[in-house]
Amino acid sequence: MLFGLVFCTVIALLKGLALGSLAISDSQLLGDVLDASDNFNDESVVKAFVDELVALSHSSKNISACDQCVTRLAVGKSLALLRPELVPRVFTKWCQITKYMTNSTCVSTFARNTVKSSYTGTNFADMLSLMDPFGYDGQLYCCYKESACSKPKTPNVTLSHMWPAKQAKHSVAPVPSANDTFNVLHLSDFHIELDYTVGAEANCSASMCCTPHSSNTFANITSHPQQAWNSFYDSSYMNDTFVKGSSVDAFKNGSIWSPATTFGNYKCDAPEVLINSSMNSIAQYSSDNNIDFEFAIFTGDMVDHDEFSLTSYKMTVESEELVFRDIKNKLGDVPVYAVMGNHDNFPYGELAQENHGFLNYFSYNAELMADLWEDYGWLGPKESQYARKHYTGFSVETTMGLKVISLNSNVWYKKNHYAYWNSTQPDTFGQFEFLIDELVASEKIDQRVWIIAHIPFSSDALPLPAKMFAEVVARFSPYTIANIFFGHTHLDQFEILYSGPGNDAKTIENVVASSWISQAVTPWVNNNPSWRYYTVDKETFSVMNAYNFYTKLNETFANNGAEPVWELEYSSREGYNITWPETAPLNATYWHTVASKVNESVEYNQMYENYAMRFSPYVPNCANSTSCDLNYCFLTSFTVDQYDDCVASVKSKK
Ligand SMILES: *[C@@H]1O[C@H](CO)[C@@H](O)[C@H](O)[C@H]1NC(C)=O
Ligand SMILES: *[C@@H]1O[C@H](CO)[C@@H](O)[C@H](O)[C@H]1NC(C)=O
Ligand SMILES: *[C@@H]1O[C@H](CO)[C@@H](O)[C@H](O)[C@H]1NC(C)=O
Ligand SMILES: *[C@@H]1O[C@H](CO)[C@@H](O)[C@H](O)[C@H]1NC(C)=O
Ligand SMILES: *[C@@H]1O[C@H](CO)[C@@H](O)[C@H](O)[C@H]1NC(C)=O
Ligand SMILES: *[C@@H]1O[C@H](CO)[C@@H](O)[C@H](O)[C@H]1NC(C)=O
Ligand SMILES: *[C@@H]1O[C@H](CO)[C@@H](O)[C@H](O)[C@H]1NC(C)=O
Ligand SMILES: *[C@@H]1O[C@H](CO)[C@@H](O)[C@H](O)[C@H]1NC(C)=O
Ligand SMILES: *[C@@H]1O[C@H](CO)[C@@H](O)[C@H](O)[C@H]1NC(C)=O
Ligand SMILES: *[C@@H]1O[C@H](CO)[C@@H](O)[C@H](O)[C@H]1NC(C)=O
Ligand SMILES: *[C@@H]1O[C@H](CO)[C@@H](O)[C@H](O)[C@H]1NC(C)=O
Ligand SMILES: *[C@@H]1O[C@H](CO)[C@@H](O)[C@H](O)[C@H]1NC(C)=O
Repeated sequence: MLFGLVFCTVIALLKGLALGSLAISDSQLLGDVLDASDNFNDESVVKAFVDELVALSHSSKNISACDQCVTRLAVGKSLALLRPELVPRVFTKWCQITKYMTNSTCVSTFARNTVKSSYTGTNFADMLSLMDPFGYDGQLYCCYKESACSKPKTPNVTLSHMWPAKQAKHSVAPVPSANDTFNVLHLSDFHIELDYTVGAEANCSASMCCTPHSSNTFANITSHPQQAWNSFYDSSYMNDTFVKGSSVDAFKNGSIWSPATTFGNYKCDAPEVLINSSMNSIAQYSSDNNIDFEFAIFTGDMVDHDEFSLTSYKMTVESEELVFRDIKNKLGDVPVYAVMGNHDNFPYGELAQENHGFLNYFSYNAELMADLWEDYGWLGPKESQYARKHYTGFSVETTMGLKVISLNSNVWYKKNHYAYWNSTQPDTFGQFEFLIDELVASEKIDQRVWIIAHIPFSSDALPLPAKMFAEVVARFSPYTIANIFFGHTHLDQFEILYSGPGNDAKTIENVVASSWISQAVTPWVNNNPSWRYYTVDKETFSVMNAYNFYTKLNETFANNGAEPVWELEYSSREGYNITWPETAPLNATYWHTVASKVNESVEYNQMYENYAMRFSPYVPNCANSTSCDLNYCFLTSFTVDQYDDCVASVKSKK
């Protein structure tokens, strides 16, 4: 009975399409149903749906990839509504038979969720059950998750009914006291590689390097380049002091091209000893220079980039616990306000709305974090309770009166399945309501606010939330929002929001806000490990300067396993050689000036690129390559649509 119902739905859906009929006729479909209905069971339902999807893929009619994708979602939805638990089997099988993706991607994308591997088929089925395949949801999914459709036009919606009108005084930032600052540490993207193995392949052909399962499939044993490297000390660690481990004969295995050294490699995530070295360098700098940090912000990503099949629930939780423990060990009483990154969840990248039936999938993480942050003294009981329950965001007021709002960016992450239903609605997660309520309350009492999140809005975000965020930021800047901080890209970057009356031209008059995007501790991929701290005006919480520190990772390859040397790379006020009043903060206008120079001169573009990657050996040459061509677009776009439009205009000029 159920089976017949499913198939009626399938047929009805297919008939409803303006695609013409498919290669297989209704009678064929019904024939399948009749055959199967003799012996109705899960196998026959799975088979019928797989056959249906395969037929769609193999249709001799000219159905575009986009229409195929959307139709698949419709077929999937009809199954998800009745037998959601069969969706993963059906889609995995279809994907494998048609070789729509590589086998491992078919499995990680569509196979049912397990605790051992980061597979998302169950989340896919949840999404199907709620989405509108033939509307914006389907187009958006088929664009961002399957690259089968072009980008649909971003809905023209607004959140402006949620706030009072902006008054004239809200268009001007309070003036810094300029003679009294305090220090804030900014950490990001540790990506601890738990199975980092000294001597393993550091130049691997696929997947994650420096692990027991990495290999260089192109390497020719006899043409193995002899490296002058000697830093192969296994089980090295650093608690109070550095303890060098035992020496590994790394060149013994001739099939390894570049053996992984003690402190990390440019194609690998961070071994714990590198993380501890970075934290140690912070503690050391702080005590040597008598510089105290009032608090620290951490903008996410503790779990590494290993294959999804090897990313387990246990490893996710262990990575989160270890990284926060290592931070706590070195920072002592300095409170850390944190956000979770796209890697800091299991399965990877997912996050469900609180009130649509899937809450229990992800509450483990919010509860773990709330407990840990409270135990470490980073959050009080009230904030911790809030973070435990409302995991898309929480706020905390620092002892000096600044409000820090922490947002979970998986809400707008393009890989999160739960972002693909009701996607024309601006706020299915309730995150904007939370953010706006906090901002309205702060504005009323003239309190300044910092917003911290992992993923910046111009890349890897979905277009609508990006547009909504820009609207909120334009409304509450520069009076209330003092600064915005992201991580995620692993690059030292910034982004400017332009919003003028009637136009968003990239002029100095239209500058309203900017964000800081932090460099990473993980070297992955091709960067030197790095961290920064800000000097912040005590009265306005505007940033007066940023000091960026790094270690030249390549110098640890041949130093016989000695500790990395961390040093000041540059400061944001002096590093760009721009004339800027000493008493003025490094605000959006400052960054507009820098961005304009990046646009005008190759020298400035190169300077920016060097800083972005911390002078690693892999920094491209901007003068003779196209690698730096889109930098200006990145720096001057705050939303996905702005970035895409900018890139299109650069490309059309070529
Ligand atoms: C199939 O569709 C594409 C794009 O719509 C078109 O360019 C092509 O000519 C069509 N091919 C056939 C055989 O109809
Ligand atoms: C596909 O990948 C899965 C998971 O990695 C594996 O178990 C299975 O053997 C693979 N199948 C084929 C045909 O390679
Ligand atoms: C968006 O909607 C607003 C108000 O509904 C309208 O004034 C505006 O013209 C629309 N913009 C576009 C690009 O459609
Ligand atoms: C500078 O600091 C002193 C003492 O902290 C304070 O009295 C003075 O008002 C400050 N100056 C400005 C311009 O805020
Ligand atoms: C990495 O290995 C490839 C061969 O697979 C080789 O061409 C390349 O030069 C190697 N890169 C480094 C940095 O050793
Ligand atoms: C490996 O290196 C040897 C010696 O340089 C060469 O003769 C052989 O062709 C190489 N094999 C491959 C697969 O590159
Ligand atoms: C020191 O670090 C090692 C490796 O990270 C760890 O196993 C050990 O428990 C630490 N010891 C102390 C006293 O913290
Ligand atoms: C979300 O989608 C569901 C199912 O399509 C619909 O019933 C509901 O009204 C939508 N909610 C909002 C807030 O639009
Ligand atoms: C810095 O700017 C000054 C004045 O514009 C200029 O003379 C100088 O050459 C610049 N220095 C660098 C390193 O670009
Ligand atoms: C940034 O600071 C400068 C100097 O105080 C000021 O002129 C400018 O308006 C500020 N920009 C913004 C966006 O607040
Ligand atoms: C490390 O890389 C930098 C940038 O390419 C280079 O200048 C430096 O000489 C390298 N150091 C070593 C020891 O290879
Ligand atoms: C670009 O310039 C660098 C440094 O001058 C040089 O090493 C490199 O080979 C050049 N690359 C190209 C593609 O010309």
